[in-house]
Amino acid sequence: MLRALSQLGVQRAALEDPGYGDLAVSDSARAARAVGIDVVPVPVDEFGLNVTALEASGVRAVVVTPAHQSPTGVVLAAKRRHALLEWAARNDGFVIEDDYDSEFRYDREPVGVLQGLAPDRVFTIGTVSKSLAPAVRLGWVLVPPALADAVAAEKRVSDRGSSGLDQLAVAALLESGRYDRHLRRMRAVYARRRGVLIDSLARHAPGVRLTGLAAGFHAVAHLPESADERAVVAAARQRSVGLYGMGPERSTTVAAPPQLVLGFGNVGERAVESGIAAVADLLR
Ligand SMILES: Cc1ncc(COP(=O)(O)O)c(C=O)c1O
Repeated sequence: MLRALSQLGVQRAALEDPGYGDLAVSDSARAARAVGIDVVPVPVDEFGLNVTALEASGVRAVVVTPAHQSPTGVVLAAKRRHALLEWAARNDGFVIEDDYDSEFRYDREPVGVLQGLAPDRVFTIGTVSKSLAPAVRLGWVLVPPALADAVAAEKRVSDRGSSGLDQLAVAALLESGRYDRHLRRMRAVYARRRGVLIDSLARHAPGVRLTGLAAGFHAVAHLPESADERAVVAAARQRSVGLYGMGPERSTTVAAPPQLVLGFGNVGERAVESGIAAVADLLR
């Protein structure tokens, strides 16, 4: 997609900050730079991407996670969704919508994709990395019709095509109804893990606020101002508790509050409970 955009003359793209990794090293940033597109960070707050800052950055493309921002866990507010599409229309801009986990919303239906509102300006990417396994390496992309051939050609040049056998296996899973059944079952499993995370934190560390939609596989814990995020992560590791700080997901770290991105995707309920008890003990 970035290569096709680069051929259209797009020279700079924005990525969310915090986002899916620090721009200095993230895969998305490196993919952009590899095709000659410069990347700039645009801040995210509790309403999602700051579209005013996007406008000011002067880019013509942006990669966003509107349904469930990665990693802050917020949803892009309705006003911002509209502002983002207006930005694209005004600036001959393009939105790459990374719809990476909307199969997993636990309290209601996920918000609809932006692509439906502006199909000629939005690319939407989905994946089975969360629903089946990252190792399957299959996903899909809805491409603005005018760019579909260009994107298909670029994909062919970049990888000579994805495995046909694997695609047929996933198609069979979809057509049989078993994929939907699997999603329903796993939604209940992950929702329970998230519930245990919330309860454990309330019990062991009642002062620590947790934010993020009831969705996906992570939530954000806001540590006391005085806490040293990196020290907490390192000390937890000493106790065999694997934690992620928000720091590595930030491109701008000035005055960043200490936060943890708590993952519950591949951790059982008991491990969530004992892990949170250990973190609470550390914070004390
Ligand atoms: C924000 C975000 N985008 C995309 C992906 C999926 O990437 P892929 O489909 O290449 O495994 C992930 C998976 O970890 C993610 O967290």
